[in-house]
Amino acid sequence: MKSILFAIPLLFSFTLAHPLSQNTGSLGSNTGLYRRATVDSPNNGTRQNRFTVRAKLVDTQKTGVETGVKQYSGYFDDKENDKHIFFWFFESRSNPKQDPVVYDVSGGPGCSGVHDILTTFGAGKVKDGQITRNEISFHNYASMLYIDQPVNTGFSYAAQNVNNTVTAARDLTDALTAFFQHFPEYSTQDFHIHGISYAGRTVPILADDILSRKPPNVNLKSIMIGNGMIDPASQVTGDLPLVCGKGGYPSLGSPEKCLAAENSTAQCTSDYLNCYEPQAKCEGPPDSCVARNIFGETGRDTYDIRKQNSPPSDPNGPPEPIDAYFRNPAIIEAIGAEGPIAKALSFTQCNNHSFRDFGSMGDGFKPYHRVLPGILEQIPVLIYNGDADFLCTWLGGLATAEAVEWPGKAEFKQEQMKPFILGNGTEVGQTKSARGRLSYTRIYQAGHSAFSAQPEAAAALCSAWLKSRTVPSSRK
Ligand SMILES: *[C@@H]1O[C@H](CO)[C@@H](O)[C@H](O)[C@H]1NC(C)=O
Ligand SMILES: *[C@@H]1O[C@H](CO)[C@@H](O)[C@H](O)[C@H]1NC(C)=O
Ligand SMILES: *[C@@H]1O[C@H](CO)[C@@H](O)[C@H](O)[C@H]1NC(C)=O
Ligand SMILES: *[C@@H]1O[C@H](CO)[C@@H](O)[C@H](O)[C@H]1NC(C)=O
Repeated sequence: MKSILFAIPLLFSFTLAHPLSQNTGSLGSNTGLYRRATVDSPNNGTRQNRFTVRAKLVDTQKTGVETGVKQYSGYFDDKENDKHIFFWFFESRSNPKQDPVVYDVSGGPGCSGVHDILTTFGAGKVKDGQITRNEISFHNYASMLYIDQPVNTGFSYAAQNVNNTVTAARDLTDALTAFFQHFPEYSTQDFHIHGISYAGRTVPILADDILSRKPPNVNLKSIMIGNGMIDPASQVTGDLPLVCGKGGYPSLGSPEKCLAAENSTAQCTSDYLNCYEPQAKCEGPPDSCVARNIFGETGRDTYDIRKQNSPPSDPNGPPEPIDAYFRNPAIIEAIGAEGPIAKALSFTQCNNHSFRDFGSMGDGFKPYHRVLPGILEQIPVLIYNGDADFLCTWLGGLATAEAVEWPGKAEFKQEQMKPFILGNGTEVGQTKSARGRLSYTRIYQAGHSAFSAQPEAAAALCSAWLKSRTVPSSRK
């Protein structure tokens, strides 16, 4: 069994250090504007919530991110279990009273949510050492919530680590419940959950937890998963065709190797299915899945087959610019990241234990997709893939969507892919859906993070989905 990294830690290699990172002044305490309250007595009186909210109005003059937009940051505290989960919330740039609220689930496992604020679809970017506004962003049409999860990721802290998606999701449901009770002004808008990569594990489990426990004020209307680890056994069927020239890109393997690999596909799928057994703890793809070996020999980038691997960054080099931003004591104070200061000052995008701990539980290979039929009974699901990703291939994402056991299964499978068209007429991908519930979209010429390579296409997809649960396409 080989191990495989699901995180996208060094996807964005900014080269310039943030000038603020030199500041090592001391930290003030609770100087900001706090709204403290407990959520021990929710409106319906039927359940207790473990989390209280410690929130601060963010001084955007100090952070430089989304200046002039109302923001709160702080912690969800579960005092009894000593769990403290950090969040940063931004009102929509447009109409926060009506625009939906989106929680973007971080990947990893163990990668910071707030780190995403300065990447891809987030509020800003670090460029030339400065924060610049990201014009093609979820923030244009939604209020955005980012959370450092599971505990002990980013600015979150706790007495004990969490080592599986189910426990992490339960914490998130309770944290979200606390959030919407603390901020009822955001609880009547539609709420959606989006996530990429390892969040393909977390998003369905979280949605299922919310839909089955039905906490008050969590107005969940849909889930969106990009290049996600949803159903590994279905997903693996996309590896060989993509690497061998049947996924829209030239073959990367010799005809002999590709032909020989065909022989092992049945074994590969069967080995993956064994990982779904309750007692199984698979820590990496089975050895029978040789498409990964063919790919590995090419030296291409797992996150984007169009590129060669870039050399690993120097572990003793300067911190990556976004990490440097978050390590700045002035920023730490401005956002009220008042957990253990040594941890905050050494903020890293991804922690160094969750990947190992979740891995040892076999969490990357559990059949979490089996909650999808129950979710589809209540809300729509969007699955999309940048089509140049090898880690989570688009053919595998399509196979995953087609394998979901729901009443629309046959209809969805029969449906032909239609062009996915931007407002100006450009075809940027393909899409299909059934019963207004399950949608699949392929985005051309994009890797693991579609927003990174094709921001206009990804934004068009997500904004249309938030508005109407549809994907812009021609009626062919
Ligand atoms: C996972 O976490 C639980 C609860 O903290 C702990 O009891 C268990 O030993 C952990 N297992 C592994 C393999 O880390
Ligand atoms: C595929 O397997 C069959 C049956 O085991 C074998 O006869 C054939 O030579 C194999 N093909 C390749 C290309 O390895
Ligand atoms: C993991 O992170 C902690 C906290 O930043 C650090 O003290 C520790 O040395 C790291 N361990 C490894 C193996 O990198
Ligand atoms: C349509 O918009 C996209 C994204 O802005 C752009 O890349 C493309 O060139 C445009 N196509 C036309 C025909 O203007």
